[in-house]
Amino acid sequence: MVSFCKKFLMLLFFLLLIPTRITSAFLPPIVANQAMVTTSQALATKIGLDILKKGGNAVDAAVAIGYALAVVDPCCGNIGGGGFMLVHLHHGKNIFIDFREKAPAGIQSKDFFDANGKEKKDFTQSYLSVGVPGTVMGLNNALKRYGTLPLKTVMAPAIELAEHGFKLTSENLCLFHLKTERFAKEANVKEIFLKNGKPFAPGDVLIQKNLANTLRLISKDGEKAFYSGPIAKALVEASNLHHGLLSLNDLAHYQISITDTIHCNYRGYDIITSPPPASGATVCEILNIVSGYPLHDLGFHSALATHFNLEAMRYAYADRNRYLGDPAFISNPISTILSTTRAQKIRDGIKKNEATPSDTINRNAEIIDQEKPNTTSYNVIDQMGNAVVVTYTINGYFGSGVMASNTGFFLNNELADFSLKSGVANAFHLMEGKNNLIMGQKRPLSSMSPTIIMKNNHPFLLVGAAGGSTIITTIVQIIENVIDWNMDINAAVNAPRYHMQWLPDRVYTEPFAFSHDTEEKLQKMGYTLQLGSPFHTKFWGEANAILIDPNTNLLSGAFDNREPTGTVGGLRSEQQPTRICPSIQL
Ligand code: DON
Repeated sequence: MVSFCKKFLMLLFFLLLIPTRITSAFLPPIVANQAMVTTSQALATKIGLDILKKGGNAVDAAVAIGYALAVVDPCCGNIGGGGFMLVHLHHGKNIFIDFREKAPAGIQSKDFFDANGKEKKDFTQSYLSVGVPGTVMGLNNALKRYGTLPLKTVMAPAIELAEHGFKLTSENLCLFHLKTERFAKEANVKEIFLKNGKPFAPGDVLIQKNLANTLRLISKDGEKAFYSGPIAKALVEASNLHHGLLSLNDLAHYQISITDTIHCNYRGYDIITSPPPASGATVCEILNIVSGYPLHDLGFHSALATHFNLEAMRYAYADRNRYLGDPAFISNPISTILSTTRAQKIRDGIKKNEATPSDTINRNAEIIDQEKPNTTSYNVIDQMGNAVVVTYTINGYFGSGVMASNTGFFLNNELADFSLKSGVANAFHLMEGKNNLIMGQKRPLSSMSPTIIMKNNHPFLLVGAAGGSTIITTIVQIIENVIDWNMDINAAVNAPRYHMQWLPDRVYTEPFAFSHDTEEKLQKMGYTLQLGSPFHTKFWGEANAILIDPNTNLLSGAFDNREPTGTVGGLRSEQQPTRICPSIQL
């Protein structure tokens, strides 16, 4: 008893010393001292933690989570899409795994336009928008190279959940209910995602036997089952039947790419991030530019700090949209974009009290409207310090909404991320140039940017986000919230955001991002403000992050309140609390 009390008092003393970061009226973050997982679904978070408890490493857990989210988060988690995995191994190696979808070899720009040159209506809800999925190849290869457990072991929990089902919560159903009409249009989707033709209610169990069979095939035969076995056959047959362009050859030749990461330095922190076709270079370019301004002294969301950020975003998106694309097709001028001389040159052009019109940086062009998107990102850090951030997507909520015969999974509509022809913006209103024009076997440029930040060679912050074109500015603002404004991770992830993407030339704001006087000052500088995202949502960029205190190694995690199903799970010693006490004292 005495020793218990002593331990308890020591722990209390230790915890009182911890809150060096400024906490806020947000709930204090979840903490743990051994390992941590953040995902968009509690069941997937638990599966990740179970794998870590079993002795698996962060990559084992990330692969198990990837498959689990394909079952419990079908809007976004997937095996019918693609994405990126950023890995930091505890002995120092950093790896980028690109399992982004590729365009079918036979595709051409003209396939997307009618005889009058108009974009085909609703093509994003058809097989025409489907890229060759990369998730299965990506997850399986990550496991083979950097994991320690057999595929069967990491896939077993996902198969179990698909076979026997899981209870739907009201939060899960928010997204399902958005798609009732769409589900009803596809007989094989309706059978699974509606209950006798009607929407599910909270407490109903979602059983996905077809998906369980598909996952079982992959678990038994590996990625072969998907890319040259029965699943490939089913995908191609369905695509042929519905005017899609996927071929058996496209699937058989699909390859992931494993490359180096991109690096930059922000106020003494090493940023490790995702190269093209991901957009980590743009995260770094924005940070490079703003590193020349004293953001901390200017104040959180002050007019001037916001102005410098907006200008940095404007220039960096203009560079992204003009220069970046699939490295297998174009040469990405990363070292030029990220040079200190370029950042200085851009700063030299930024006026202190005046917005730069976007069309003086590059030409203006037609902007088109499209549907709302979705993606999911998750983080794992294990007991040894291996860290993984994965962002993967089928693009729209439930992707293209189509499912090949009895495969049980939604196919992506990722081809909408290409420029379909020059001068036409893509689904996120991003006005991109010829480097992202659609071509057979090319990967579309993505905004996804899994990022790991290091301090003194140790992981400091793991961060990723969903949110289409807003992903980049979401990640930048979380990094600034932590580094410049010293926020705790919950405040950093949940603080209101703003967004600028060069074109359209306007500032998108979440509710309460600015006071009226800040808005007025920004308008006087020449900015046009608009409430909501480029894709007409009130808020955006569902993010999640893990912060590792460099002094105590304490892990604190946050999942965005913008995504009500998100969870943080930690492995901790017995007496450690799940949250630090709020620090009320100033
Ligand atoms: O890769 C991209 O940039 C998009 N397909 C991501 C879509 C997305 O984040 C939607 N999420 N809200």
